[in-house]
Amino acid sequence: MSDASPSAALEQALAAVIDPELRRPMLELGMLRDLRVDASTAFMRVVLTTPACPLKDEIRGAIEAAVIGTVAGVATVDISWDSNVTSTRGLPGRQEIEGVRNVLAVSAGKGGVGKTTVSVNTAIALSLTGARVGLLDADVYGPNVPIMMGITAQPEPGESQRIRPLSAYGIKVMSFGTILKPGQPVIWRGPMLAKGLREFLYEVEWGELDYLVVDLPPGTGDVQLSLAQSVPMTGAVIVTTPQDVSLADVSRGIEMFRQVKVPVLGIIENMSGFVCSHCGETTDIFGSGGGRGLAETYDIPFLGSIPLDPRIRLGGGDGQPLMAAAPDSAVGGVFRDVAAHIAGRVSQENFASTAAPVMPSGPRIPLRP
Ligand SMILES: Nc1ncnc2c1ncn2[C@@H]1O[C@H](COP(=O)(O)OP(=O)(O)O)[C@@H](O)[C@H]1O
Ligand SMILES: [Mg+2]
Repeated sequence: MSDASPSAALEQALAAVIDPELRRPMLELGMLRDLRVDASTAFMRVVLTTPACPLKDEIRGAIEAAVIGTVAGVATVDISWDSNVTSTRGLPGRQEIEGVRNVLAVSAGKGGVGKTTVSVNTAIALSLTGARVGLLDADVYGPNVPIMMGITAQPEPGESQRIRPLSAYGIKVMSFGTILKPGQPVIWRGPMLAKGLREFLYEVEWGELDYLVVDLPPGTGDVQLSLAQSVPMTGAVIVTTPQDVSLADVSRGIEMFRQVKVPVLGIIENMSGFVCSHCGETTDIFGSGGGRGLAETYDIPFLGSIPLDPRIRLGGGDGQPLMAAAPDSAVGGVFRDVAAHIAGRVSQENFASTAAPVMPSGPRIPLRP
């Protein structure tokens, strides 16, 4: 018999378990807690960096492999899953938004590629995992989020002269679309836009959010650059389509974010292949795979391909996004995977930006002293 106590032996065995995404020991990162051995079962709480984590099975396998047969008498592992979303360290010179842990920008080289579709459905997918999510529609040229989310109300004043955000499908929403009158020409010039955006970021009662998704105006001009510069982002996602995977467009986007020191979380290819609703077969109408190739060229993660699916367009048109209407459909699964991938990249960036990473303390799960 070993003279170490069972829980000390358990801790020792778990020291070798590496988080598959962050590639560091989970125990050291504070992700394995409340270790206890009772009879032949090892109990523990695993605190993930996002509720959207797709790697639960892999983590469970690694824990079982490390413990069973190593810790005397233990034959089964009982895991309770928890999460506590990591928080961005922010970028120098940018004001943080109180209570908001991560700001994710969704950008594209031009309009019509599905930036808003991706923003809306990813936001809902994240929220379905249990994360607290906000959506800020900063696309002054085409603020379509209210239409896609079926929002017709106007934001109302909240407490102490702040604005109370609108809400749909469990997500807090603010949009330039709700304050621009229909038909009003969008002649917001840089300074006006910047002022409006500051209000949306700092004078809205966002409350506690794990992720605030920002739908940016398309392109890489001065307006976009100044937004990329003023929003305290964790990172940006670039949306492209197979037919306009022009190196020029996407590389300008990547260059813009590099210039303002915003990490690019990855590239999403939208409308890549048409899924026939009758036979289920996929046809590459515009070709596909260009997004992946671009990601490789620029050494940026590829976050997934979203097929061209009429239900995505219909849902967006009648205010019921696909992730709300059919979250369990095949294409719903694609959005869930993309959202999980984005959430994983956020955790990676947050851990990469600090030398001695630890899980944040927060209202959700109090840390051990
Ligand atoms: N994967 C898709 N399948 C089918 N229709 C799509 C898909 N992605 C976007 N659309 C449709 O294409 C149009 C443009 O998408 P949108 O998200 O508004 O683009 P952007 O915000 O980049 O201008 C919308 O009508 C939308 O419903
Ligand atoms: Mg849009």
